[in-house]
Amino acid sequence: MVSKRIQAMPFSSIRKLTPFANEAKKNGKTVYHLNIGAPDVKTPKTFFQAIKDVDVEVLSYAPSQGIPELLEENAKYFQKIGLDFKPEDLVITNGGSEALLFSLLVTTDVGDEVLTCEPFYTNYKTYFHEAGLKVTTFPTDVKEGFALPVREVIEKAISEKTKVLLISNPGNPTGAVYSKEEIRLLGDIAKDHDLYILADEVYREFIYDGKEFTSFAALEDVKDRLIVLDSISKRFSACGARVGCTATKNKDLQQALVKLATGRLAAPTLEQVGATALYQLPDDYFDEVREEYTLRRNCIEEELGKIPGVVTSHSTGAFYIIADLPVEDSEDFARFMLTDFDHKGETVMMAPAAGFYQHTERGKSQVRLAYVLEREKIKRACELIGMGLEKYKEKK
Ligand SMILES: Cc1ncc(COP(=O)(O)O)c(C=O)c1O
Repeated sequence: MVSKRIQAMPFSSIRKLTPFANEAKKNGKTVYHLNIGAPDVKTPKTFFQAIKDVDVEVLSYAPSQGIPELLEENAKYFQKIGLDFKPEDLVITNGGSEALLFSLLVTTDVGDEVLTCEPFYTNYKTYFHEAGLKVTTFPTDVKEGFALPVREVIEKAISEKTKVLLISNPGNPTGAVYSKEEIRLLGDIAKDHDLYILADEVYREFIYDGKEFTSFAALEDVKDRLIVLDSISKRFSACGARVGCTATKNKDLQQALVKLATGRLAAPTLEQVGATALYQLPDDYFDEVREEYTLRRNCIEEELGKIPGVVTSHSTGAFYIIADLPVEDSEDFARFMLTDFDHKGETVMMAPAAGFYQHTERGKSQVRLAYVLEREKIKRACELIGMGLEKYKEKK
C-alpha cells in the first residue's frame, strides 16, 4: 500500500496529460508543447566544453555544499546584480527544486502553514506534501494582471501556524513581476507576522518591457528571515543539469541547510563544473535571450488575442501566460486537444491551470501556456487552440 502522504499528493498538472500526448504522438500527430517551461534556447556551448575538459580518473562526490569554484562564481554573480551573498552563504542543490525542499524543511515543522499567492507553481504542492505542510493562499486575478491584493486580504490568510511566505517572482504560472512597493509590502507583512521569506527568483533574468526586478535580498531589514532559491535551469537553458542553490545570510538557517545537504551527500560533480563555466559568460548573454522571449511573449499575446472569448493578462516576466478559455473545464478541453483533435496531423498540449490553484475551481476554465517555442510554432499552436475551441464547442 502506497503511503497516505503520497496518495494525497496530486500529480503535477504540467505532466498530467503526458500519456495522452504520448498516445497522440504514437498515432503520428505532431504535438506542440506549450505545457512545460522547458526552453528550446540552446544551452551555451561553454557548459559542455567545461565538462569535456574534465580530466579525472575517479568521479568522486563533490563537497556537500558545492564545489568551491561554483560557490565562488555563483557568489560573484549575486554580487554583480547587487545581492550581497558570499560563497559561505550558499548551498549548491539538485536544481531549484531541492533548494525549495531544503528551505521548507529548515523553516517549518510538520503541520505548519505556508503562505503563498494563488495561482502558484503547481509543483510546490509536491513539496508541501513531502514536508507535511498546509498551504494557505491569497488570491490574485487574471483581470488585474495578477497584481498583489491589498494588505488586509493577504493578512487574512495568515494564522498562528503560518511560518513561511513563499513567493515566486517573476511568477510562474502568471508571468507577473512584483514592483518594489509590492516586495516592500510583503517584506513588512513577513516582519509583522514573524514569517520566513522563501524567495523563488529562478526567473530573475526574464523580465520584459524595461520593468525593474526587485529581489527580497535588496531589503536590508528582512535579511535574517530570508532564503533565496535559485537555479541555472531557466537562466542558462540548462534544465537537465539539475543545479540550483540556496542563499541566506542567516547563519542558523545556513548551518541547517548544510546539514541537509550533507545528508544527501552531494549535487552532481560534472554539472557543477559546467555551471561554473556558465556563470563566467559575459554579462550581455542575457540581452539576446531576453529579446527572444520578448518577441515570443508578444507573439503569443497577439495570437491569443485573436481567439474569441479568450482572456489573458499581460505577461511581463518568466515565460508563462495564463489564458482564460471559453470552456467550463479546461482539463477536459486540453485532453480533447490530444485525443479528439488535430489539424493536418498537428495539435497542442497545454497545462490545465486548476492544478496551480489551492481552490482548484478558480482555475477551472484556465490553462497555463509556456512561450518557450519559436515564434512560428507559437503562432501555429495558437491557431490550433482557436480551431480546437470551435470543434470542442460543436461537440458539446
Ligand atoms: C517557479 C519555479 N521554481 C522552481 C523551479 C524548479 O526548477 P529546477 O528544479 O529545474 O531548478 C521551477 C521549474 O519550472 C519553477 O518554475
